[in-house]
Amino acid sequence: MTMADFDWKARFGPLINTLSDDGLEDWAALLQQQLIRRFEERPHGDLTRWQTALSQLPDLGSIEGHLDSSAVTLESSQALTSEQQKQLEQGLRGLMPWRKGPFDFFGTYIDTEWRSDWKWDRVSPYLSDLSGRRILDVGCGSGYHCWRMHAGGAKRVIGIDPGLLFLFQFLSVKDYLGDIPVDLLPIRMEDLPADLETFDTTFSMGVLYHRRSPLDHLLDLKGTLRKGGELVLETLVVDGPEGYSLMPEDRYGQMRNVWFLPSCDTLLRWLDRTGFRNARVVDVTTTTTEEQRSTDWMRFNSLQDFLDPDNPSKTVEGYPGPLRATVIAEKP
Ligand SMILES: C[S@@+](CC[C@H](N)C(=O)[O-])C[C@H]1O[C@@H](n2cnc3c(N)ncnc32)[C@H](O)[C@@H]1O
Repeated sequence: MTMADFDWKARFGPLINTLSDDGLEDWAALLQQQLIRRFEERPHGDLTRWQTALSQLPDLGSIEGHLDSSAVTLESSQALTSEQQKQLEQGLRGLMPWRKGPFDFFGTYIDTEWRSDWKWDRVSPYLSDLSGRRILDVGCGSGYHCWRMHAGGAKRVIGIDPGLLFLFQFLSVKDYLGDIPVDLLPIRMEDLPADLETFDTTFSMGVLYHRRSPLDHLLDLKGTLRKGGELVLETLVVDGPEGYSLMPEDRYGQMRNVWFLPSCDTLLRWLDRTGFRNARVVDVTTTTTEEQRSTDWMRFNSLQDFLDPDNPSKTVEGYPGPLRATVIAEKP
């Protein structure tokens, strides 16, 4: 890979063309404007640094991706030289902190803050067969789950996430895999045109509690789906009766921007009231300090530091510790 400015047109042009070809010209035009704003008019201060890190990753011969294993894995047919190994390490270190994964780049294991594979293992048994489906993954982070969805047979996967470092982490995998119908767009849910009605499955995992208006988020998600399409929603919940939800006074587990943690029954009612059908809770799991922790690739504080040391079932603010539910529902 060669050092160059971030060429967003080359990066996103093929997807923009595909959207146009698929009858989504309005989205393609809007996206183009948003990308101009993001990369030309208001470029992120770390853009050059991340592009440099990406360009340090060594060119290798033929690459095989194993996207169906717990670590999304890249293998090269040839052993890396010590120089290539050094470039690889430097490039990947330059894209720290790595939060969502894990990944294995030619034997270099990226132990991410999150065991995102554990979430996939909880969610994937309940999904409709992904074969041939067009999938949207809202708030996809580094795109870890997008790779797993592709491995599950999806025809096309589009992840969206406003975090630009996540885009570069995603590209560090994608650049080795070549032309593959998996893309990550650095945009927010609110940047999508309303009522695309095009996706067979839409995922929203770890996003709802960040939305000040969770019902609008559910309506926006519904708008992305074709009739009969499937919503996969994963979010923080609390114990409590139907109708109950927790709104933290300020931070929750040190996280800013956490608005509503509903009980499972409340969440089901929200889905019902926003017009989904057949909503069912398929999993409820407490997040542990084995699933979310600091690692050599994410050296900042993590869950252990966000829980009350005297009572780890509570957050440092005294709220119930993180409990996550997965709900599946259909758009009628
Ligand atoms: C807790 S992470 C979840 C990542 C991944 N989906 C998972 O479950 O492991 C939440 C992600 O949502 C993204 N996000 C926050 N607000 C968003 C919005 N309005 N639209 C799309 N993504 C958003 C954040 O950048 C972050 O990467």
